[in-house]
Amino acid sequence: MSAPPVSDPRLLGREVLRIAFDEATIRQRVVEMGAEITAAYPEGDLLVLGLLKGSFVFLADLVRQIHRPLHVDFLVASSYGTDTVSSGNVRLVYDPETELAGQHILLVEDIVDSGRTLQKLADTLRVRNPASIGICALLHKHIAEHLSHPVRFVGFDAPHEFLVGYGLDHAENFRHLPYVASLK
Ligand code: PRP
Repeated sequence: MSAPPVSDPRLLGREVLRIAFDEATIRQRVVEMGAEITAAYPEGDLLVLGLLKGSFVFLADLVRQIHRPLHVDFLVASSYGTDTVSSGNVRLVYDPETELAGQHILLVEDIVDSGRTLQKLADTLRVRNPASIGICALLHKHIAEHLSHPVRFVGFDAPHEFLVGYGLDHAENFRHLPYVASLK
């Protein structure tokens, strides 16, 4: 593990418990994941769907490591219910413009935490009759229960800590950190 970059101005003075995954470690793993995905989808169309906002950094790096033809589109989902407790309901607030029927879809998430987002989104996408739905997440906490769609491509098993950076936020801050840090 790297020493916390206490002088990093991007941290807004917040102290980090530790750097969970540093920049070089992430870069290397994303190269490996790109190779895994390239090998897993040898022929035909592939639509990479990034779930905003959290996946935007990971997705940008990942697609450049997938060495086959593909298209990119995005989803925006919103949980609704109370502000502090997820109701488990997830609806699409931006629907991809791309036709999903018959497509091989690779859904890209930054992190699988409770798994609720993923479960609901995969259910929502499945009724559009894609040829297949594969799921890729940079981080997986492995606490999700009842996931009917297994995460096929996982970057790292994530610690049960509050993680920010490389797309993950706290109150919309820290998404632009090039590493994943655990906040105190
Ligand atoms: C975060 C994260 C995942 C989801 C994981 O998104 O990006 O999409 O929560 O949590 P879950 O497994 O418990 O459902 P968030 O709703 O914070 O939106 P964001 O992507 O815009 O940060």
